[in-house]
Amino acid sequence: MHVMKSMFQRKPPILSLRPEFHSQCSLTNPQVVCNSSSTREEFMMKILDRRWTLKNPDTKVHQINVSRLQTQPTSKLLGNVSFSNNSHPSLGENLTEWHNDQSSFYIVRDDLLHPLVNGNKARKLDALLPLIEDHLGTDVVTCGGCQSAHTAAVAVSCAERGLKAHLLLRGEQPQILTGYNLISMLYGNVTYVPRSVYAKREEMLTSHADSIPGTIIRLDDLLKSSFTNHKSTKSNLDQPSNSKKIVIINEGAGDAIALPGLIRLVKYLSQDHILGKSQPIKIVVDSGTGTTAVGLGIGALCLGLPWEITSVMLADTIEGYRKHEEHLISELCGSSGFPIIMHSGLVHWVEREHPRKFGNVLKGEIEACQQIAKETGVLVDPIYTLAAWELASQLSQQEKKGGAKVVMLHTGGTLGMFGLAQRYKSYF
Ligand SMILES: Cc1ncc(COP(=O)(O)O)c(C=O)c1O
Repeated sequence: MHVMKSMFQRKPPILSLRPEFHSQCSLTNPQVVCNSSSTREEFMMKILDRRWTLKNPDTKVHQINVSRLQTQPTSKLLGNVSFSNNSHPSLGENLTEWHNDQSSFYIVRDDLLHPLVNGNKARKLDALLPLIEDHLGTDVVTCGGCQSAHTAAVAVSCAERGLKAHLLLRGEQPQILTGYNLISMLYGNVTYVPRSVYAKREEMLTSHADSIPGTIIRLDDLLKSSFTNHKSTKSNLDQPSNSKKIVIINEGAGDAIALPGLIRLVKYLSQDHILGKSQPIKIVVDSGTGTTAVGLGIGALCLGLPWEITSVMLADTIEGYRKHEEHLISELCGSSGFPIIMHSGLVHWVEREHPRKFGNVLKGEIEACQQIAKETGVLVDPIYTLAAWELASQLSQQEKKGGAKVVMLHTGGTLGMFGLAQRYKSYF
């Protein structure tokens, strides 16, 4: 309850600029607040002017109706509600209409983008992969847990482009490979790393990249170059063409270069025939590193949308998320040569109602996923997307007629279920 209350007390995010760079803003105060929409648009255009992986940013939007049941609670986690899915809802202007006074929320079906590279993985790699190609990258090094959807997405995407993916997976190789672990093995080059070594991720990634003969291309250099000569491969012409070029991607692609794909998604969703620009909207998303939520927050801010990004914290503390948010903002702004200081506070970070150690599954969670799958045809997983579904469902029941619409972003990750079925046999 406490969490919910504070969610609505959030101050609108502000955009401030260093005055020496922008004459539109007051020159007297060194931390001037500037809400100039032209400045935001300019920044946005600069970010979106690039080559993308996804041919277009389109995605499906479904509507989930939430009906209260008069019976005993069907699920401890979801309450006594049932769900149904309208896969062809009226969007655009009709979004503001309420039908039968029934609670509902919308769900952005990014889980349908690709059989293996979907959800936020597809968005995070949207800007990144073309940059690697433009700079003639040959190898990618990244890491994740044994069932990491991110490492699997990187492996598949690299294989599709003729790049070599080196995947450092935490822990020991399981006896039977399944889910994302199996995909990582089929498409990439997997090395299992003892947990004590994995604990120092940066060191581990760098030393693995160092072990591959060739030149390491830094991701922040790629990001910077994307704002200058991103369509050219000039920076590589003076290097021998047969030398390997290795790119390191952080765990979960928690890098600033993951943000443009999410900003592109916000722009797509804000079109008049989809969610529009004037309807207050609460976007709900689940967070691991928090990068997805920050990308959505930057997009909403730059477009001046009355959208609130609410993120359920699943893998870190609020301090950790705020720090990461600040870091991503400063890296994106710094690299773009557009020294905007967006104060952190773009994302409303909230605790899950039933907190648990990251990666664990609580009793009743599989049943909740099962109920959702059976009633709506949407598969969520207990590690990530169930948490966003729970919150979207709660918020949709609290929203008053004419209030903000609730929109959940499906971040994908559904193959994770296979790994969980192996690990938590008694729950299935
Ligand atoms: C299904 C799913 N949802 C959410 C996340 C977390 O996204 P982020 O790290 O951007 O918060 C991940 C991890 O990449 C994921 O696999």
